[in-house]
Amino acid sequence: MKIAMMALLFATSTAVAHVAPLENFETKPILADLNDLRALNIPVLAKDERVEVGYAQVTPLMLQRIQERSHAVGKCGGFEDLSQDTFLHSAGFVGLLENLSKIQEKNDLYERAPFKALALNKSNEIEAAISEVSESNLRSYVQWLSSFPNRASRDSQPNKHVVEMKQRLEAMLGNATIPWEISEIRHSSTQQNTLRVRLVGNERPNEIVVLGGHLDSINQSWGGNSKTAPGADDNASGSANLIEALRVLMNKPQPKRTVEFFWYAGEENGLLGSAEVAKQYKAEKKDVVAVLQLDMTLFAGSGEFVLGSMTDFTSAWLRDYLKALNETYIHARIVDDKCGYGCSDHASWHRQGYPALMPFEATFRASNKNIHTVNDVISPESNFKHSAMYSKIAVVMAMDLANSEARQPY
Ligand code: BES
Ligand code: ZN
Repeated sequence: MKIAMMALLFATSTAVAHVAPLENFETKPILADLNDLRALNIPVLAKDERVEVGYAQVTPLMLQRIQERSHAVGKCGGFEDLSQDTFLHSAGFVGLLENLSKIQEKNDLYERAPFKALALNKSNEIEAAISEVSESNLRSYVQWLSSFPNRASRDSQPNKHVVEMKQRLEAMLGNATIPWEISEIRHSSTQQNTLRVRLVGNERPNEIVVLGGHLDSINQSWGGNSKTAPGADDNASGSANLIEALRVLMNKPQPKRTVEFFWYAGEENGLLGSAEVAKQYKAEKKDVVAVLQLDMTLFAGSGEFVLGSMTDFTSAWLRDYLKALNETYIHARIVDDKCGYGCSDHASWHRQGYPALMPFEATFRASNKNIHTVNDVISPESNFKHSAMYSKIAVVMAMDLANSEARQPY
């Protein structure tokens, strides 16, 4: 495609007097870490200093530099591609950052509040439920998901694993004692479908607690067999955490609020599935009180039971809630950290103004370096005990938050 374009350029450049350099043909709108953009002297068109995010229009070369720089500091992509972003197309980049900034004001208000009444009363039922989370189940789900050649949204069969996953979930839910619904959600930005399981609330069904992660995988390495993408850590792990949480919850009392599980499509190609879902929920004025995002939980790069809590594109209230639930039930060490860009599906919900949370396997820097390659497989370093924590967090959110009246105060 690129070669074809270059050929076209050369062919016409003799005839047309002023041919724009090739780079101008392919500029992309992106959001990236403000510090990266500054260090690379890339013109920042708009920025939000508080979240340290900058908007820029970049050429392929600039993009490569950002990627090199972020790889050097242990990041993955290092930027968020906004070419598909419908909000950007309608409101422009100033609108996009104004929107982010408005959401950030809620966090600032919360942080400045004189007192935060966040403490969880220990419940024996919740304690018992989290002890049911099984490491060997997690291993077998990750084993199964990572045995597909890939789960890529641009594969010729992008839904092979989605169909099988739906069948497996239906079989598992055959033993459920509470009501459930399952559906495949189709998208316009990708051929891949998102899977959703709903546990409808019996008191306030319109209030929704979302527990989600992306089911797709990608291979971004140069050369080699670029179609093979086992994605064990990214993100069979988070997907498995959600299956295991659902298995535990399906035989517990029906929650007062609705709990919705999502296995999103096309995250690796720009948060595609979650962007459509969150936008749709907002358009339908759905009352989503909290969104948990589980993406990469298997590599304990900062130490066993050391958990990174991403502070960008998330809610200050939910991060406090995570700390409170951790004190009561999980007993991990939580380290605040940042991706520096909307690195996963929580950003889609955050952009629509919904409170999101992303507990992550480690700090960004210490996270798994094998993701997006054929080497993202189960290995001796895979830590299912560590990973089990994230299923437990999901179980607590479903049994505590989805049975309470707590919500983001601002
Ligand atoms: N799981 C990663 C995000 C991630 C990677 C978080 C490393 C923390 C450390 C996610 O699946 C991903 O790859 N996201 C993309 C961005 C997305 C907008 C396409 C990335 O980070 O390049
Ligand atoms: Zn990824």
